[in-house]
Formats: sequence, structure tokens, C-alpha cells
Amino acid sequence: MRLDRFLANLPHSNRRTALHWLASGRVCLDGQPCRDAIAEVSVFSQVQLDEENLQQGQPRRFWMLHKPIGVVSATQHPEHRTVIDLLDEPDRDQLHLAGRLDLNTSGLLLLTNDGQWSRRATLPSQHKAKVYRVDTEDDIDPACIEAFARGLYFAYENLTTLPAELRILAPRQALLTLHEGRYHQVKRMFGQFRNKVVGLHRLSLGGIELDPQLAPGQYRALTPAEIACI
Ligand code: URA
Repeated sequence: MRLDRFLANLPHSNRRTALHWLASGRVCLDGQPCRDAIAEVSVFSQVQLDEENLQQGQPRRFWMLHKPIGVVSATQHPEHRTVIDLLDEPDRDQLHLAGRLDLNTSGLLLLTNDGQWSRRATLPSQHKAKVYRVDTEDDIDPACIEAFARGLYFAYENLTTLPAELRILAPRQALLTLHEGRYHQVKRMFGQFRNKVVGLHRLSLGGIELDPQLAPGQYRALTPAEIACI
């Protein structure tokens, strides 16, 4: 909501009063004096009038979780344990997922209460790099490297995948970097080469790397530098 509307909607206030407060420099937004009527006020913003809090502002939360296999990437599920169930936090019900992993995929999962941040992390147009370690049933055909870099046609969505980088580490293991997140994308890419993905683990997203100290099921708060990656 715009700052002038936020101020005008307060009890015993109106638009004229709001503009007067702003013009006379009595309003602070997130600790800084603010005269900008159209500055954005969110649930996270602190708004003060003459140093008195009009809105405290909710704290933003950012977590990285090492998602184990068998836990579902959702906030609620009728059968499976969800990633939210793994968090021992009082405000965990206010969190949502910034991206998902399949039930049998492990690795980095990001959770937050900040919708703008999670949109930046997940919007296809943002092309955030996601790095996966992939284990396959059969030997990886080196032709995959060029084919993945060119892009593969997905008939269901009628699209060609964005260039992806494949680095073969062992006959049946590789690192794959994607810049988008299509449904079951990694499995479908290897599927086009008739090779089944038998292990999939996300190592990083948008420059945020899964902390190697975290065992499957463990989580920690993101650092300010990690939050700023997105
Ligand atoms: N690609 C997949 O096939 N599964 C995932 O969980 C993530 C990417």
C-alpha cells in the first residue's frame, strides 16, 4: 500500500492530515525520514510518526533447508510429512516455499515469509541458476552435453528448454545447471536420452549454496549476503 494511503487510513486521520505529516517531515519509513507519498508500505515496513510506531513491521524470515527424500515440498499434505513439519519455528505457518523439489529429490530448499523475495527467486524470467547433482541408471551419453546446451523440445508445453550446462563427473554422475524450473525438468531431459535419473540433489539456487554442515532435515537462517543474492 502507498504510504499516503496507509497514513490516511489511520483512525482520526484523513488524506489532508496524511499529506501534512509527510510534507512536514514527521514520518519515518524503516527508520529513515520519508516525504514520498507513494513509497511502498508492506507488512514488513516500520512506519513512525514523530518517533512513535504506527506499524512495527513483521520480521522477514529466510531459511535454507536440506530437504530429505520422502518429504513433500508443500505447506500441507494429506499423506506425507511436509518441509514445514521439519521446521521448529513458532511462525512456520506464515512461511511458503521459494521453489519446489520432487518427493524423491533432496537438497537445497528455500523458505520465507517474503512474497516479493520468493517471486524473484522463482520467476522464470529471472533465470536464476540451479545446480543439481544427478545420478543415472545408465552411463551418461556425452551427446547430452551439446543437446542440453542447445535446448530440448518439451512437446507437452511446446517449448525448448533454455541452454543448460552439463558436467559429467563419472560415467553415471553429473552436475547439471538449469536456468529455469520446468515440471520434472531434469528427469525429462535425461528421459529424452532413455536414461533414468536415480538420484537428484540440488546444490544451489541463484548463488545460494546448500550449507554442507546441514544434514538432511536440518535448516538454518540465511545470512544477509545469501538473502541479497536473490
Ligand atoms: N527436476 C526434476 O526432475 N525434479 C526436481 O525435483 C527438480 C528438477
